[in-house]
Amino acid sequence: MKISIGCDHIVTEIKDHLVNYITEKGHEVIDNGTYDKERTHYPIYGKKTAEKISFGEADLGIVVCGTGVGISVSANKIKGIRAALVRDIETARYAKKHLNANILAIGGRIAGLGVIEQAIDTFLETEYEETKESKEIIEKIESIPMNEDLIGDEHYFDEFVEKWNDSGY
Ligand code: RB5
Repeated sequence: MKISIGCDHIVTEIKDHLVNYITEKGHEVIDNGTYDKERTHYPIYGKKTAEKISFGEADLGIVVCGTGVGISVSANKIKGIRAALVRDIETARYAKKHLNANILAIGGRIAGLGVIEQAIDTFLETEYEETKESKEIIEKIESIPMNEDLIGDEHYFDEFVEKWNDSGY
């Protein structure tokens, strides 16, 4: 697979380690930086990493910052991106299997390296298991309007609420 990866200056060594780790697993890596410890801004690398996937230049992505929060929030602003912030193996599995997450986000100052490696292995190896439910929910999430005029539509998820009320999903 082709993996797009990015980080901020807080976790550059971890990202560099992961580039080697993923490459040794036989994947091709696009390293979007940052490349040193000079202070920079995580949204730059969340955006760059996510765009590679959105533009079809990479299959999946990994983003790392201190907590994983800033860079995952940034990546999720890019069209078609579902970045999941995880700190355990089971969440990594769930994110791919049920939500078809295409970016794994990790807090390099939060999770230990062993957990990070295993979460990545799990994320890359787990197959998305599409169901009618997951397909419809993902499509609905994808089409949440970014247009300011439409923000605040309290009825956007009404059809889902109705299904839940009828014991559906
Ligand atoms: C440092 O900029 C730190 O705020 C960042 O790495 C991250 O933890 C943000 O979520």
